[in-house]
Order: sequence, then structure tokens, then C-alpha cells
Amino acid sequence: MTTWVDGLEEQARGLLPEAVFRYFSQGSGAGLSAAEACQAWEDMRFLPRVMRDVSKVSVSTTVLGTPLDVPVALAPTTLQRQAHPGGEVEMARGAANAGTLVCVSSNSGSTFAVVAEAGAPWWVQAYVLKDRGLTTAMLERAVAAGARAVVLTADTPVVAVKHEGPASVWDLVPGEHLHANEDLAGVRHSSLEKAMDLTPDTIGWLAEVTGLPVVVKGILRADDATIALAAGAAGVWVSNHGGRQLDRSIATARALGPVADAVGGGTPVFVDGGVRHGLDVLAALALGAQAVFIGRPALWALAVSGADGVTRLVGTIRAELGEAMRLAGVTDAGDVRAARLVDSEGPPVRLWHRPDQELTVPTALGRRRGDR
Ligand code: FNR
Repeated sequence: MTTWVDGLEEQARGLLPEAVFRYFSQGSGAGLSAAEACQAWEDMRFLPRVMRDVSKVSVSTTVLGTPLDVPVALAPTTLQRQAHPGGEVEMARGAANAGTLVCVSSNSGSTFAVVAEAGAPWWVQAYVLKDRGLTTAMLERAVAAGARAVVLTADTPVVAVKHEGPASVWDLVPGEHLHANEDLAGVRHSSLEKAMDLTPDTIGWLAEVTGLPVVVKGILRADDATIALAAGAAGVWVSNHGGRQLDRSIATARALGPVADAVGGGTPVFVDGGVRHGLDVLAALALGAQAVFIGRPALWALAVSGADGVTRLVGTIRAELGEAMRLAGVTDAGDVRAARLVDSEGPPVRLWHRPDQELTVPTALGRRRGDR
């Protein structure tokens, strides 16, 4: 059955200029990580509980002190004004109406102050630039406008080559400034090169500059999660950047469990990548995420019907999650993990193979599966 959410991408394809659509949808390299993200969630199988009183179900949660009506928030994406003239403001309005938060890209096409007026709780995403002075100025604007956390995108020392779409966002917005934020607008492209020298100390630096909790985005390994927490991170965000950075990176559905196990219960873990349905969210919560973030579908929803589309997207996933929790025998989003609904290793590896190759492949955990 095709749902409204499933149909969003095709609707957006019909509405957006082809280059913009491709920019949004593409992955890096051969696009393997981007292509397998959704399937990895669908490969999860649940162990539902029965004989539970599920007359009342609560999907609300609190992330880093901010109460949300739903554990589904909006991931940072560039060029939202190419999806809808209202861009980030419209996205934030959609989030506010859905009772959730939005993470605003440091490449936002609207100023943080204007986005904040939409009324949604928001976090600022930081690409730390080679020019730390520009980064600091951008972050100070975000703090002044009311950002509640800073998200360090750690997986982008360089922007990976995308073969399918425009070579860079700059090709899509010729003559137009990518950044509306006062300190970055008009700054030459070459001055906006990303820092390649991030270390765990960057976490402390961001906390000092902003006074905000720092969440590290782009974590795929348990040991990196532990290092981030030791360096002062308030949370970790399991992500492979929607398959737009290192192609062939592990699917987040498979990376999440080991990361959450290493982090333990006290620190929030977030995840994104291929999350499209309530069942995906149930799987993410079961593996240890406190909330999920949605990237491309929010852009499609924005393109199709602006803030209302974004609200409907989150509302649809919220309703699906409520039903899924009932059917799985869990009544509170915060109790999903403890209910042990899934194998914490995540979905099995799909064995893509050519007839002349052995069927045995290593799993992410180093075990080998000997049969199909
Ligand atoms: C992104 N993403 C991203 N991440 C980030 O930290 N800063 C950014 O500016 C952007 N920009 C961006 C643009 C576009 C067009 C896409 C599709 C993605 C990555 C994003 O935050 C998120 O990690 C993925 O999009 C999640 O995967 P799904 O939900 O798109 O499958």
C-alpha cells in the first residue's frame, strides 16, 4: 500500500526544478548508503508483547530539556528556500504546529532570528569552518536567537562528490547567497571551506563559545560515541548524512544498537537516515534512540504543501507510531527500549552477491554468516 508519505517524493519530483530535486535526493559516490537506508529499517523484525493494557499510549518525550509531542524531529538540510519560498521559516512553522523541534542548518537561507519567530524549539547545526572567526560569529547569532543546542556535524571534513546532481550547492544558487545569516552572507565561497582538523576538543570549544549542550552528529561507531561523551558531548546523533558523505558507510539502522549500548541509558542518542514510517521510529526507539530526525521527506513535504505538509508528515508518523506501540504492547515512548522488541544488533546484512562470489560476508560486528 502506498501512503501519503510514500507518495511525497514523486509529488515533489513533479514540482521542483530537476536539478533541485536531484540535489535533494542524491547520495554520494555510487549512492549505495543512500539507497539502502530505508531497507535497513524495513529489515528489522519485532518481538511484540501481548497481554498489556494499551488503552493509553504516550508518544511524547523530552530531549535535552525540551518537551516534544513526538520523538520525531526535523534534520538540518541546506537550500530549503529552493523547496519552498518560505524555506526554513516555513519548515519551522510546520515543526511548531506538529509539536516538535527543528535543527537549522548553518547553511540556512533564512536568518536564525526570523526562523526563531516561527515558534518551534530549535537547535543550530554547525559546520565548523576553517575560519573559526566566521564560525563563532554564526554561532553567536544562533545563541542570541534562542538556539537550545548546537549540533556538531562531524562527518564532513570535505563535502563528498555527488555524481548524479549538481557539483555543489553553489551551482544551484548562482548569484544568490546561500547563507542568509548576516555574518556569512556575501562571504566568498572559498572562505567557507570546512575545517579538516576537528578533534574531540572541538566539542569543548563549541560548548564554551555557545554555552549550549553539544550533540555530535555523524557518529556510526560505539568507540567514537564514547570519545564524544568523554569530551563533553550532551548527546550523540547516529547518522551517515543521508548517504551523502562516505559512501558504503553502514546503514544507521545497523549502527544504532551498538552505539546506544556503548552510551548507556543516561545520555540521549538520536538517529537519522531512511526513517519514513512509524514502524521505523519504533525500531529506532527499540534500539536505543530517544528521538529520530527526518531529512528528505521534510523537504518533499515542504515542496508539496509548505508548513502544512511538514506538520502532516510528522503527524502521520506520530499516528503510525502510536498504533505500532499499541500493537507491540508498549504504552510510553520512553519504555520502548526496555521492552526489548528487537535484536539489539539491528537488521541482518543483506547479502548482495554475484553468482561467482561466495555468499559469506562479514557483518558489522565481525561475525560471519555462513548461509543465506
Ligand atoms: C542534508 N544533511 C545535512 N546535514 C547537516 O548536518 N547539515 C546540512 O546542511 C545538511 N544538508 C543537507 C541537505 C540535503 C539536501 C540533504 C538531503 C541532507 C543531512 C541531514 O541532516 C540528514 O542527516 C539526512 O538527510 C537524513 O537522512 P534522510 O532522512 O534524508 O534519509
